[in-house]
Amino acid sequence: MQPVILAIESSCDETSASVIQHGKVLNNVIASQTVHQKYGGVVPELASRAHQQHILHVVNEALTSSGISTASLNAIAFTRGPGLLGSLLVGVSFAKGMAMGLGIPLIEVNHMEAHVLAHFISDPKPAFPFLCLTVSGGHTQLVQVEDYLHMNVIGETRDDAVGEAFDKAAKMMGFPYPGGPLIDQYARLGNSSAFQFPQTSIPDLDFSFSGIKTAFLYFLRDQKLINPNFVENRRNDICASLQKHLIGMLMQKLKKASDETGIKQIAIAGGVAANSELRKTLLEYAKKYSWKTFIPDFQYCTDNAAMIAMAAHYKFLENKFSPLDVAPLANLSID
Ligand code: KG4
Ligand code: ZN
Repeated sequence: MQPVILAIESSCDETSASVIQHGKVLNNVIASQTVHQKYGGVVPELASRAHQQHILHVVNEALTSSGISTASLNAIAFTRGPGLLGSLLVGVSFAKGMAMGLGIPLIEVNHMEAHVLAHFISDPKPAFPFLCLTVSGGHTQLVQVEDYLHMNVIGETRDDAVGEAFDKAAKMMGFPYPGGPLIDQYARLGNSSAFQFPQTSIPDLDFSFSGIKTAFLYFLRDQKLINPNFVENRRNDICASLQKHLIGMLMQKLKKASDETGIKQIAIAGGVAANSELRKTLLEYAKKYSWKTFIPDFQYCTDNAAMIAMAAHYKFLENKFSPLDVAPLANLSID
């Protein structure tokens, strides 16, 4: 049976709902939270409160605009984690309430697996096995994808995510949160060879971005001693140089993963997959190393419920349902 599913995403600062019918995503409604901008990062307490305010409207909009009635739904899907506990709780509780009220099953979805499965929302779709570099504000992972529901993390960051490195560097330069897209924007106008940053040496297929964050902090401090207006005067060149360095770190491990596994179908996912330098460099590597590359539509790179719906579709087909006492899997060491 091909199901009709309502999916909810609330892991961080986007409240999103999507309806999927017979494997086809019908919509992707997103309410973004702007309340965090002035704080330079997501404030968990404010995020969960905003989810509470948005979720009913977002779900109603997803149902209305798809023309699907609650009576036609076969399951309710939600993001179980990873994410912020208070944010996840809103989505999990809302999904449970709907599933109980309608008497239909509940499907939990792993947020990182959903980022990978965003590649199956529209064409062209990768064939198995493929490699996926999943890069977001909270994660940096290299995933070997064997099947819709079978994937192995073969490399990941040992400390900060690359999106966090972008956002923290942006904050150091005085940009509002999230600064990643602004660095991308200014970098287009700058010289990427203007400044050099130290290379980190992390074994295997793992990454580390905490060192470059600290190096960038000291770089700005030292340059400002010479010229207090350094950031204002050289903004575009700083952004271009830093961005090239960060993307170089990602591409080096992606190439190593392709060499080691022999897999040449390469995908990128997550918010940082929207970065123009990453997209450009990926296409250059594709040409040079005969890779077939896959980049999701922009709306499916950043957090969205369509990817949760896609993952839930495949879970439904394999009867993978969740009990009603399921709890969120937050970014806690006690999980
Ligand atoms: O996947 P996502 O929406 O949320 C998480 O799961 O974290 O990713 C958000 C991250 C933020 O760090 C944001 O700065 C970054 O993606 N980002 C970008 C760009 N667009 C979004 N980073 C660099 N260049 C971009 N164009
Ligand atoms: Zn995400």
